[in-house]
Amino acid sequence: MTTERGRTCISGLRVLVTAGPTCEDIDPVRYITNRSSGRMGVAMALAAADRGAQVDLIHGPLSVAVPRHENINAAAVRSAQDMHDVVMERAPEVDVAIMCAAVADFAPVQTADRKIKKDVDGVPRIELQRTPDILADLGALKTHPFLVGFAAETDDIENNALQKMAKKNCDMICANDVSESGSGFGSETNRLTICLREGAPIRLPMLQKSEAAERILDEIEANL
Ligand code: CTP
Repeated sequence: MTTERGRTCISGLRVLVTAGPTCEDIDPVRYITNRSSGRMGVAMALAAADRGAQVDLIHGPLSVAVPRHENINAAAVRSAQDMHDVVMERAPEVDVAIMCAAVADFAPVQTADRKIKKDVDGVPRIELQRTPDILADLGALKTHPFLVGFAAETDDIENNALQKMAKKNCDMICANDVSESGSGFGSETNRLTICLREGAPIRLPMLQKSEAAERILDEIEANL
């Protein structure tokens, strides 16, 4: 649907959102993960669903409740590889993909199928391998959805975000300084800078994640 000002509304479009951390298992009781709560992805999914989009929420283990909404179809995954497989399978049907998940970058090469016992097995040396980069793989598709990445940075935020946008071929990147208190992992708020392929970066103030999600959707609708 297009408004009289030429904006494309996301109402009726299919929007995929990734959220939360992924967990990379070492053995049946131990795993590698990160500090992501999933709040930003859940806020994005709810805001898009409230605007009438059909939302696929592909999420790792969340610290917050999985949202219940008639427009949200949630799928739980555990590892980066699982998330990759579900996202790539759905990608051809999706109009917009918003990649909020803090996907683990490394996973153990092997997952033990029984608990590693310290007195029997000693201190394990865990060999790691890179996980698939879901956003980059979407960006490499011949035709891909409107792609929104997030960039978790601790320094030189905007430059690093712009480099990520180019490297992963996305249309928009939302950068945040995860070292700033009140912004990023685990917090209720975020201070984001929205970078598009053209034009100056849009620096948002510190906002509740739900308000930040609305501002991101406004920019998506203005640039679809
Ligand atoms: N991302 C992804 N798959 C990965 C890693 C990241 O889809 N294996 C996505 C994230 O969901 C986010 C964007 O890529 O939208 C950037 O993630 P970020 O963690 O900031 O950067 P990385 O690409 O992992 O690079 P680095 O950790 O070196 O900054």
